Amino acid sequence: MSVTVLVGAQFGDEGKGKMIDYLSEDNDLVVRFQGGDNAGHTVINKYGVFKLHLIPSGIFNEGGQCLIGTGTAVNPDVIEEELSQIRAAGVDVSGLKISGKAHLLMPYHRQLDELMEAKGGIGTTKRGIGQCYAYKALRKNLRFEDLLNLPKTKEKLANIIPFVNDQLKAFGAEPTTIEAIYAKCVEWAGKYKDMIVEPVSFLHKFLDSDKNILFEGQLAAMKDIDQGIYPCVTSSHPIAAYAAVSGGFSPKKIDRIIGVAKAFLSAVGAGPFPTEQFGDDIDLLRGTGEKPDDKFGVRTGRSRRLGWMDIPMLKYTSMINGFDALALCKIDKLDTLPEIKMCTAYELDGEIIDYYPNTDELERVKPIYKTIPGWLTSTEKIRKIEDLPENAKQYIKTIEEITGTPVEYVGVGPNREELAV
Ligand code: GDP
Ligand code: IMO
Ligand code: MG
Repeated sequence: MSVTVLVGAQFGDEGKGKMIDYLSEDNDLVVRFQGGDNAGHTVINKYGVFKLHLIPSGIFNEGGQCLIGTGTAVNPDVIEEELSQIRAAGVDVSGLKISGKAHLLMPYHRQLDELMEAKGGIGTTKRGIGQCYAYKALRKNLRFEDLLNLPKTKEKLANIIPFVNDQLKAFGAEPTTIEAIYAKCVEWAGKYKDMIVEPVSFLHKFLDSDKNILFEGQLAAMKDIDQGIYPCVTSSHPIAAYAAVSGGFSPKKIDRIIGVAKAFLSAVGAGPFPTEQFGDDIDLLRGTGEKPDDKFGVRTGRSRRLGWMDIPMLKYTSMINGFDALALCKIDKLDTLPEIKMCTAYELDGEIIDYYPNTDELERVKPIYKTIPGWLTSTEKIRKIEDLPENAKQYIKTIEEITGTPVEYVGVGPNREELAV
């Protein structure tokens, strides 16, 4: 038995989907443990190109199982869309299960997210994620288990919907009805009832046997609601410890924690971003032509903000996650740069600081850069870290030294096999 947790180490979109697809071969169960369809996880393998929002990126592992776990906020209509795309590619999806404790993300959660953002928000994905988690905290949600008891669900809706309508009315929006939401529940029950499981005993059967479990994080540590750049964060905990909370098992059972980082930084949405760059320099990193991968967010299609590698940030996210290893994706995107900058420290009010600042101070820090010569050669075909060009190895070594975490995987292209280990 082994438990591995893989999470984003920066602002999201680091290449988690690709890494999970790669690692899933050695695992029997892949669990999405938080977040919702704000995620866009790209997987490129023998079945095609997929942008997964809710279905775990381990779905392509033949004979393996997948669980949409307890800590998630799930719009069932999105599962349906994704399942049909994956099935159409000839993938067996019969191993997909959904936790009965996963929360149902309702049409009104999305509507309220859009209404709040329109009044000046933080640049959410407008998928209703924050609203679904807020309703969870208010004890005004339904969960997948409710789809297995429809008469009781109708009674619960009689309590929830008047509250929802008060909120919709406060925004000047049309109210919803118990009947309309109940009809959605009946439809979802028809589609998903056979996939719903009691998640704790389900997971413990894997834990108590010789099976391997892989937890797939959504988003990343800098957007964690407690440890991230509040308030420009998501509404769940994209950090490794939450895999145990969501899974319903002791954190002592986690064997390995992998942080996925990009060789440079990208972010969508507002918030402090010390190494952000504008103009020609960074446009070199923006995917164009054949590989428009960094241009737009997978989920929102918004233009991504870009910047240089920020090692103090990686050191901080290593601290709060406890990374055993880093996966550094997209090093190939630096192949053509004559010089590469990496931030190695922050200066605040004229002094180098030895801690990672809270949001307000983070807005004011000045990054200190180290510039190294580029390697000016293609890394795409390299499959062993030891075969990378010397300057790329120097780049990796600087990251390892400052973060204290070994880089054990290096992404050299978007396809599953484009990885040096
Ligand atoms: P996720 O949300 O962390 O799964 O990442 P996304 O899928 O949102 O964004 C990562 C983007 O980078 C996608 O377009 C991937 O296909 C691509 N990608 C992942 N790893 C690599 C890599 O090593 N090199 C290159 N060039 N692209 C990569
Ligand atoms: P993956 O899993 C990048 C960002 C939004 C916004 C903030 C809050 O593909 O890395 P939310 O809709 O969660 O309330 O928005 O978080 N965000 C992401 N950015 N990748 C994601 O997912 C994201 N999920 C949310 O842009 O800044
Ligand atoms: Mg993404």
